[in-house]
Amino acid sequence: MSSTDVLREVQQIPVEGRSPLRFYDYAPNTGSFAEDARAGLSARPKTLPAKYFYDARGSALFDDICRVPAYYPTRTELEIMQVHAGDMALAIGAGALVVEYGSGSSLKTTRLLDALANPAAYVPVDISREHLLNAATRIARAYPSLPVLPICADYTAPFNVPDVPCERRVAYYPGSTIGNFEPASARAFLRDMRTVVGEHGAALIGVDLQKDPAVLQAAYDDEEGVTAAFNKNILHRMARELDAEVDPGGFSHEARYNAEQGRIEMHLVSDRDQTIRVGGRGFALASGESIHTENSYKYTLHGFEALAAAAGWTVADVWTDEKAYFSVQYLT
Ligand code: AVI
Repeated sequence: MSSTDVLREVQQIPVEGRSPLRFYDYAPNTGSFAEDARAGLSARPKTLPAKYFYDARGSALFDDICRVPAYYPTRTELEIMQVHAGDMALAIGAGALVVEYGSGSSLKTTRLLDALANPAAYVPVDISREHLLNAATRIARAYPSLPVLPICADYTAPFNVPDVPCERRVAYYPGSTIGNFEPASARAFLRDMRTVVGEHGAALIGVDLQKDPAVLQAAYDDEEGVTAAFNKNILHRMARELDAEVDPGGFSHEARYNAEQGRIEMHLVSDRDQTIRVGGRGFALASGESIHTENSYKYTLHGFEALAAAAGWTVADVWTDEKAYFSVQYLT
């Protein structure tokens, strides 16, 4: 277990008109942006970790991306949930405890909760306390009789789920965030997920699929420039939080499809020779040099089945949209 696995406190959070939320705070270590930025900018090729996209501004920009017409994953997954949530609920069975990884959009979650027969509890897990409590409170208000037990933890390491009686635990991980892990880390993560849900547990995971690279290119470099703003926000964040000397206007957003790796990559490409300064250290960039900020892996059905199998899971069911752009996969 990681160092995040130390329970700091359990709090009762009041919610009007229902029993309070029972909030488990593991006080996760969110990492050091300054150290990670310096390490990434010293690497060759230069990188910055995608987890630093998501400050308040970055999270708002990501919500905007989800509404951009070219960004198909969110609406396609929602459509799949709309059409197939009943079948998913049948597969999961009555009395399930739902552990949601990432506080997520309440829209996808409510589609699942609405379809489930007599869910035992809803346990959202997120590293961001604010996101977590917002999402948990929204769900608690919408489902007054459902026990809601938010856990603030780094869900990429194993964590303990409160011992609530249930027929089975099901991990819910929508959004294809699994695609942002390197395949070896995705495998380790899926293995940990098995530990979290236990022997009779299951998982319901959103997995984005391989498709025409032109569709991917448009989704990750939208005409409106929202993804470009999202990518550049990491530089703005360095200036805001680390007092870094950096000119985000001197970089261009680039989405590159990497066919060999089956992933779409995001880069920030330097428009000229320039230097970024963080904490007294300078990092020189040549014109055209890139900072690699994100990978988003796209899977074939067979490829994801093999990944899941390597982590000890069996793909019991798969639901896709008509174009087979996206899938929701039920693992047992
Ligand atoms: C969060 N994650 C699943 C998104 C993705 O599609 O990989 C992040 C994102 N990056 C650019 N657009 C959206």
